Amino acid sequence: MSKKIALITGGVAGIGRAIAQTLVEQAYTVAVCDIDDRRGEMMAKEFSGSLSFYHCNVAKEEEIKAVVQHVYSEYGRIDALVNNAGIIRRRTSEEIKVSDWDEVFQVNVRGAFLFCKYVAPLMKQAGRGKIVNISSIAGKMGDITSAPGYGPSKAALDSLTKTFARELAPYGITVNGVAPHAIETEMSAEWSAEKRESIIKAIPLQRLGKPSEVAATVAFLLSEGADFITGEIIDVNGGFLMD
Ligand SMILES: NC(=O)c1ccc[n+]([C@@H]2O[C@H](COP(=O)([O-])OP(=O)(O)OC[C@H]3O[C@@H](n4cnc5c(N)ncnc54)[C@H](O)[C@@H]3O)[C@@H](O)[C@H]2O)c1
Repeated sequence: MSKKIALITGGVAGIGRAIAQTLVEQAYTVAVCDIDDRRGEMMAKEFSGSLSFYHCNVAKEEEIKAVVQHVYSEYGRIDALVNNAGIIRRRTSEEIKVSDWDEVFQVNVRGAFLFCKYVAPLMKQAGRGKIVNISSIAGKMGDITSAPGYGPSKAALDSLTKTFARELAPYGITVNGVAPHAIETEMSAEWSAEKRESIIKAIPLQRLGKPSEVAATVAFLLSEGADFITGEIIDVNGGFLMD
């Protein structure tokens, strides 16, 4: 059987990179897209033969259409889509510019919507497919680091996940989310030392999470073992929120 093809957005750093690496280790062929061309090209060299890099800003519909078309014409299938690209703008609601709030929604929600919109017809044609959206604990309980656009964008992403899960279930396609909290990446590196300490204190497992731990959950949701799971948002949070 030919290798499975996975398309990952925001796949050259942090959690996205860990997902790409885990899937390469599981014998997928991986297409990563990101705005960071330098890291993308380095990654394509590092995983040469198993991974290709495509420039794509998920805030731009034309770039999304082009990358989906490109990956499909290159490999003839897309088995898995992971909408991982996400941004945060930390400001109080008084300080945040409306344009920054809009940008968070464009990347975190509209980007994922557009990737689902353009990939789903290809999966429908194949009669199978798996989509995983990387959400956040902030979607369930509001953002704890003063980012008024971020929590609402992730709540919208969770609803989008369930909406697509219902629409695509009759075609053999599952759509799930993963909601991490406090994972050691560049996004969380912005926290002050005090913030970091107070976040760790509040986590029952008393540590930050690793990108590879989020990646393992994504790999499970993409596996046959998860064939009967759809519309679910799985927590990866050290026990901080038990819902
Ligand atoms: N790190 C955490 O603690 C944490 C917690 C909860 C949720 N998340 C979510 O996990 C996902 C990954 O976060 P991370 O911590 O690895 O972030 P990160 O900032 O380390 O990496 C994000 C990646 O997305 C890319 N990206 C940003 N904007 C993009 C755009 N417009 N188009 C394409 N690519 C773009 C970046 O270049 C980068 O490679 C995000 O959706 C984030 O909201 C992270």
